[in-house]
Amino acid sequence: MHSPVLINKDILSTKNLNKQELLAILKAASCMEKLVTEKGVCPMLTDTLIAFLFLEPSTRTRLSFEAAAERLGAKTISVADAGSSSILKGESLSDMVKVVAGYADCIVLRQSAMGLAETVAGQIAIPLINAGDGHGQHPTQALLDLYTISKELGKLESLKIALVGDLKYGRTVHSLCYALLPFQPEFVFCAPKDLYMPSAITNDLKSKGVCITEVESLEQALQADVLYMTRIQKERFPDQKQYELLKGSFVLKKELVLQQNKDVLILHPLPRVDEIDTHVDELPRAAYFRQAHNGMYVRMALLAMVLGKDIPGL
Ligand code: CP
Repeated sequence: MHSPVLINKDILSTKNLNKQELLAILKAASCMEKLVTEKGVCPMLTDTLIAFLFLEPSTRTRLSFEAAAERLGAKTISVADAGSSSILKGESLSDMVKVVAGYADCIVLRQSAMGLAETVAGQIAIPLINAGDGHGQHPTQALLDLYTISKELGKLESLKIALVGDLKYGRTVHSLCYALLPFQPEFVFCAPKDLYMPSAITNDLKSKGVCITEVESLEQALQADVLYMTRIQKERFPDQKQYELLKGSFVLKKELVLQQNKDVLILHPLPRVDEIDTHVDELPRAAYFRQAHNGMYVRMALLAMVLGKDIPGL
């Protein structure tokens, strides 16, 4: 079936995606997973060129997008760090994106300024996918998080989701809150005092009827259906002394999970530093590596959908 819902659409924030679009993406990702499992590749973008502009470090997002494009048969061009581009000579991102839009059919962009992806997307005619804009949004991560929750728990509706760690600078949790919004979530926020969820997001969610509880311990956060751990975002701190004070605030241990709630689904966008002890990896519900793997299917779905391709099985 043709997937008209996202054709030529920019993917900038999960705030802009409605429930129908979210469910269509998850369905398309499931089709992509089936196709890759059965055939390895699904060459439906052979007439397409995709530009990857990664001006901030990335492993998962960049490589899963590139793997997605390769499996779809697309041609690609890429900038893997700002230092190898003319940004180093003082070129603006706006100029760079306008130039690249003349070469490609779709741009995937990661850069450090919150809101700038939306600004530059408005200046070009081809779709732009925000692959992380500073401490703003990371919508494709939230979509793969949704896909993972749905696969692991068999549902998305009415879940209690605990978000732990750096809720101030962590763009993945900002996007995940809005991606879950149409599914009647209950949120538990667990963060050091200086790294609370921005009040603009908390107030917005509350104004939409979402129940939010703020807790101070991992024991309390573990009483949820999903425990979403995050890294303290060292690179976003204006003062590294403050980072040193806050790092290690919450460290999840296997024994604590077994003692408090062995059934909790444990997610993390990765990379992790020290907030999940490696022994937690042994638990069957520790799903963060499966979560990263799912990113490729979700990004295959997004690329095919924004470029208006038919997805077999959809
Ligand atoms: N989760 C995530 O965005 O990882 P990378 O920074 O490695 O892309």
